[in-house]
Amino acid sequence: MEQAEVIKPDTPKGGPKHVAIIMDGNGRWAQMRGKPRLIGHQAGARRVRAIVEACPSLGVEYLTIFAFSTENWKRTQTEVAGLMGLFRRYITKEMKNFMTNGIRVRFIGDRVRLERKLQDLMDEVEALTEGNSTVNLTIALNYGGRDEVARATKRLAKDVAAGRIDPDKVDETTLAGFLDTCVLPDPDLVIRTSGEARISNFLLWQSAYAEYEFIDTLWPDFTPDIFAEVVGRYGGRERRYGAVL
Ligand code: FPP
Repeated sequence: MEQAEVIKPDTPKGGPKHVAIIMDGNGRWAQMRGKPRLIGHQAGARRVRAIVEACPSLGVEYLTIFAFSTENWKRTQTEVAGLMGLFRRYITKEMKNFMTNGIRVRFIGDRVRLERKLQDLMDEVEALTEGNSTVNLTIALNYGGRDEVARATKRLAKDVAAGRIDPDKVDETTLAGFLDTCVLPDPDLVIRTSGEARISNFLLWQSAYAEYEFIDTLWPDFTPDIFAEVVGRYGGRERRYGAVL
């Protein structure tokens, strides 16, 4: 029997090149202090900067963070509006810092439902940071893994219907090329804070071979030291990508 193909055996040891984070626990952090949930999100936003800036010294070239899911619209109107305002302020405030620190910013998710002002800022920061390469920061906004695969499939189906793609030639690489993440490597390590052990529709396709770390710390308390410790643990693991090495 032919041996199964080994997918991407590029980083069996060493640190993770691409880390993805589900930043959970802002609400509980605020609640524990008797504060509104938005205060927790604000504290969470401050943490983002510290974690992004820790990436180069840890050898992390790609950082992808889950900021707003396709399911988060179900939260109260006050919280959703508060989060959208926070994203706008974060992008505006960090613009200079992205340039000083060589951070390239990208967004994944369905932008169409986001307010125009926010979409414009997203376009602006993507264009402005296009030439940066120290850290590739990807922010998932109105993102859901299933939604992403559905949107990719729709675009692929249109190309098949138009005769641009031969359906018999469609394989994993073809579909991956239609995903929002088509220019990014797959994540090596996915971290979720706040003690919940779920992936909540985050990077479903891309994390097929990722390592997972579920950390008890709430996101606003997640320090660069804790980040370094988690990233360090990954270095000792052997990844086999389904093969016997
Ligand atoms: C989950 O915590 C967190 C979110 C839904 C929002 C994530 C947003 C941030 C960290 C803030 C800013 C991000 C950027 C990019 C500026 P939760 O509210 O579900 O917490 P809980 O489970 O304790 O209620």
